[in-house]
Amino acid sequence: MATMESLIVTVNRIQRACTVLGDHGGDTNLPTLWEALPSVVVVGGQSSGKSSVLESIVGRDFLPRGSGIVTRRPLVLQLHKAERGLQEYGEFLHLPKKKFTDFSLVRKEIQDETDRMTGKSKQISPVPIHLCIYSPNVVDLTLIDLPGLTKVAVEGQPESIVQDIESMVRSYVEKPNCIILAITPANQDIATSDAMKLSREVDPTGERTFGVLTKLDLMDKGTNAIDVLEGRAYPLQHPWVGIVNRSQADIKKNVDMIASRRKEREFFASSPDYGHLASKMGSEYLAKVLSKHLESVIRARLPGITALINKSIEELEAELSHLGRSVAVDAGAQLYTILELCRAFDRIFKEHLDGGRPGGDR
Ligand code: GDP
Ligand code: NA
Ligand code: MG
Repeated sequence: MATMESLIVTVNRIQRACTVLGDHGGDTNLPTLWEALPSVVVVGGQSSGKSSVLESIVGRDFLPRGSGIVTRRPLVLQLHKAERGLQEYGEFLHLPKKKFTDFSLVRKEIQDETDRMTGKSKQISPVPIHLCIYSPNVVDLTLIDLPGLTKVAVEGQPESIVQDIESMVRSYVEKPNCIILAITPANQDIATSDAMKLSREVDPTGERTFGVLTKLDLMDKGTNAIDVLEGRAYPLQHPWVGIVNRSQADIKKNVDMIASRRKEREFFASSPDYGHLASKMGSEYLAKVLSKHLESVIRARLPGITALINKSIEELEAELSHLGRSVAVDAGAQLYTILELCRAFDRIFKEHLDGGRPGGDR
């Protein structure tokens, strides 16, 4: 439905505007507003395939991936659907006005910006990197990539790193607005999956957890994951989705996204084990499931979000009316942008309620 789509787009823009505003929100409820809006977070052990899954959802190569601890700062990734024909580009919050059209440079900037904060050592930092991607080929969505959970410190890392990573991940997934992609590699024992353990803890009913099984291509010959994928071994509220990402060898050979998706489709379609599940497996299916879920979450939360937005409109009007010298001009402009977006949301929401009928008031 068109209005639902415009509401999601507006929600996403408000989220972005709040991010840009940072701590300059004055006495407003904007941080609460940000948290009322849903986002998708990947959780799992190191090298379970988290960054690879996110890339597949976006449909572009741009994230640092590989063995070991590659993702060392949270990456908050906002996807904005752009008009058809627009050239895709990425933009970092820390480099405003610089448009990245070459996605290999996006990857490099993520790596450099990670090192700037952590040094070249394998330290981690909870300070997120914010990246927006504008593209005709994405759905409006906020995705968050996180460092992998680990059981032991390596390569000169402090012992505290195990606990630090867990606390960092927990701070994201415990928020009720967070949709959890719990990533487990199929070639490891699910009973010991860090992803399942943590997500079950923070979301016991499983209403916001999606189980994702990666590396199905790497299972031992003669074994399969049918019991998991069909929901018997580890039942979840939402059905499990199996994934085949690029291997390290594929990455070295520069196998592109289109080829890797084709390979993934072929894997499921031609598999004697998974053929009957093929239409409900793979990265593209996962992206569809997620955007549908997101829509239903926003729909269910509309009354709450609307109330918060109306409150924000009042607060923003008050904040703007006594904007003194103490507030940066940029922050003022940003508050104004958020106000306009909130008003737009309110307008679309009312149209949505009216359902186009004159005097309709269901
Ligand atoms: P992260 O540490 O959880 O973010 O995992 P990455 O996405 O960086 O992936 C870690 C390594 O596993 C990379 O070398 C990937 O190529 C590889 N990998 C991830 N998913 C799969 C998969 O489904 N199949 C295969 N063969 N390799 C995978
Ligand atoms: Na990794
Ligand atoms: Mg990663």
